[in-house]
Amino acid sequence: MKAGNYDAIILGAGGAGLMCAATSGRRGRRVLVIDHASGPGKKILISGGGRCNFTNVNATSQNAQERYISANPHFAKSALGRYEPQDFIDLVRAHGIAFHEKTLGQLFCDGSARQIVSMLMDECDKAVAMGGGVAFAFGLDVRDVGHDGTGFRVAYGNLSASAPRLIVATGGPSIPKMGATGFAYDLARQFGLKVVEPRPALVPLTLGGDDVLFRELSGVSAEVIASAGKTAFREAALFTHKGLSGPAILQASSYWSNGDPIQIDFMPDADAAVLLSEAKRANPRATLRSTLEKHLPGRLAEALAGQLALNGNLADQSDRKLAEAGARLDRWIFHPNGSEGYAKAEVTRGGIATDGLSQKTLEAKTVPGLHFIGEAVDVTGWLGGYNFQWAWASGVAAGEAV
Ligand code: FDA
Repeated sequence: MKAGNYDAIILGAGGAGLMCAATSGRRGRRVLVIDHASGPGKKILISGGGRCNFTNVNATSQNAQERYISANPHFAKSALGRYEPQDFIDLVRAHGIAFHEKTLGQLFCDGSARQIVSMLMDECDKAVAMGGGVAFAFGLDVRDVGHDGTGFRVAYGNLSASAPRLIVATGGPSIPKMGATGFAYDLARQFGLKVVEPRPALVPLTLGGDDVLFRELSGVSAEVIASAGKTAFREAALFTHKGLSGPAILQASSYWSNGDPIQIDFMPDADAAVLLSEAKRANPRATLRSTLEKHLPGRLAEALAGQLALNGNLADQSDRKLAEAGARLDRWIFHPNGSEGYAKAEVTRGGIATDGLSQKTLEAKTVPGLHFIGEAVDVTGWLGGYNFQWAWASGVAAGEAV
């Protein structure tokens, strides 16, 4: 069995692991990155529809409490404050990668997500000039991780390596068919760290019971305000053959627990009761359906009017009935019976408990030299570039400590 000695071993060549490798390598460290996938950054490659929404200009430490979910909403601030969206934008610019802002501060490559992976690999290559080096081992399973008090020994494939530092960047279990695993949680438990119960987030929700009728609207989308508890998102919602998706629903899903309702305001720009009462006076012969069609896609207007079951035209309705219909349109309650699970979840909520980690270096407080970064940690961002910004920032934070 061949053995190698390094300054640091990084498990996982996703966004967090590559950023950590580049950062520590450029500081002159000799680093080994091990991943069981066939190449680096598989999730980066499929992200943002192949164009990688690589950051969000609002993914700053000032917004962290609101836009990152964690048992400790302050935890992410330190790393996010020391590596900001502008730092990553500067890197992207330095590599000549063209990008654009789509909406809500979300930055995407004009070309391809491949450019981001190539950029990170190029940054790793720069380590050599700085006296360090980043070696990669792809397609090999990690068989065992041991710790002898001074360093870590990792057995992978039929090889082994040791280093005084081990950085775990193996992400969460979202999209298992891409090789995602809960490996980081097992390792954390092996070293006595706690794990906040993981669950799928940024995930489509499924409808059953009376809501099942809405599944017939598969493919219809509308701008709405979707709320889970007190958290609301104004974006598009999409009906699917299984239930609800689209950015508004994915965002709300991160705040949703089994059994909770999801509330949807189908008329985000209006008080629907006022709108219906004005429509009754302006156009008494109009029906509810034809009135809703002016504001919503036809099939959705038809389905909502059908559910509200007001017979006749608007003139036939009492003001009270119209007010009740308006209130439902502003606060339509769905009772999702579940989510589409890890198979479709963009991220995993929960993960390695932050109270066991240093917020500056992401190092385990009780196991010197052991770091956890990226999605494996109990820090989950909003949709729209927040999760990659956490991957970059936590990778840099650990990389600077190595
Ligand atoms: P990541 O999962 O990227 O990397 C972990 C690595 O560890 C993988 O390479 C994996 O193969 C490896 N690994 C796992 N278990 C292992 C084991 N046992 N042994 C060895 N290796 C192991 N975010 C965003 O900000 N903007 C976006 O546009 C998108 N888009 C998007 C689309 C889709 C379809 C998904 C599924 C996700 C997104 N995301 C996103 C989320 C984003 O991809 C995610 O937050 C980051 O990739 C997390 O980076 P990490 O490096 O922490 O984990």
